[in-house]
Amino acid sequence: MSGEKKKALFICLGNICRSPIAEGVFQKTVNDMNLSDQWEIDSAAIGSWHVGNSPDWRALDTMKKHDVPYDNHARQIISEDFNHYDFIFGMDEENMRDLKKRAPKGSKAKLLMFGDFDPQGDRIIRDPYYDSDAKGFEKCYQQSVRCSKGFLEKVDTL
Ligand SMILES: *[C@@H]1O[C@H](CO)[C@@H](O)[C@H](O)[C@H]1NC(C)=O
Repeated sequence: MSGEKKKALFICLGNICRSPIAEGVFQKTVNDMNLSDQWEIDSAAIGSWHVGNSPDWRALDTMKKHDVPYDNHARQIISEDFNHYDFIFGMDEENMRDLKKRAPKGSKAKLLMFGDFDPQGDRIIRDPYYDSDAKGFEKCYQQSVRCSKGFLEKVDTL
């Protein structure tokens, strides 16, 4: 098979908790399906607070625990992303509102809520940043596993 890669970008507020986990898990899912040569994958933030930083240590811990390799750093979404990527995923309704506001008119990317691909119907990937423990990160990981598979099963119909 040849042709252009499909491109997916995962977004959350700061790009240090949810979107790195979603990116890492989606990459691993694609790798495990031997589809890594068909995908270009990244993540980015709505806001600029954490640009250049590694993910929150609890996000890194959660990924390490599940053998998800990760070594990307936070960046903020730019308007070119909306024409470079085929799919841009938000984690909650607020992300979706921010994405719709920023998308240049007529841009190519489909703006999708990651949780809409969860077969268990858990639509919102809640921001665990202010939690006092790592449980929300584990939950985000589990949701990302289900949504990555769910999305890949549907991608050819989108
Ligand atoms: C991926 O490739 C490996 C090595 O060729 C093979 O063992 C494995 O069964 C493949 N996995 C899938 C899901 O096709």
